[in-house]
Amino acid sequence: MVDTMTGTKIVGGLCGSLLFFLLVNWAAEELYHVSGQGEGVVEMVAAEMMVEPESTGETVSIEELLATADAGKGEKVFVKCKACHKLEQGEHTVGPSLFQIIGRAIGVTEGFAYSKQMASHGGEWTLQDLSDFVENPRKYLPGTKMSFAGLKKEKDRANLIAYLMALR
Ligand code: HEC
Repeated sequence: MVDTMTGTKIVGGLCGSLLFFLLVNWAAEELYHVSGQGEGVVEMVAAEMMVEPESTGETVSIEELLATADAGKGEKVFVKCKACHKLEQGEHTVGPSLFQIIGRAIGVTEGFAYSKQMASHGGEWTLQDLSDFVENPRKYLPGTKMSFAGLKKEKDRANLIAYLMALR
């Protein structure tokens, strides 16, 4: 005996698909004013409808960026920092020495007069903190003495940090 429920479902499913196809086809023709090559366009439109738009403005973690970073390029980025920072231990210029900066305690190097904000910040320079700080120093630490506009490009920050890591 025929299972009427299954039959109904199949017929219903087919009708649904057909209706969907007709609707999409109609929409495609409305949108693209094409005829003849309907199916290709239908697939295109259908594909577009399936794809969720990529969310923008999402921040990629520095660890992810470092996977493809280039320390050699980072050395060139560091030229911008060199105006105020040396890498040798204890050699402070406009800014404090960045000797072994990764993992170093924030704002405590002896012999440098930090801003109150940096001196009282606490914690240490993790990869993420370094990245966030150099991206926009005044946003990370309002009142900082580091007058540097910031490295807006994620790639630059990743390359720079890869360079600083390679120095250790
Ligand atoms: C115009 C000069 C200047 C430039 C350019 C500059 N800095 Fe600085 N930097 C400073 C000063 C001044 C401080 C101390 C900030 C304070 O006390 O608020 C500082 C502090 C820092 C600190 C904190 C150090 C510590 O001991 O906690 C880090 C890290 C740092 N800078 C990294 C960088 C990097 C990386 C660059 C390049 C992308 C850079 N800076 C470019 C002047 C500069």
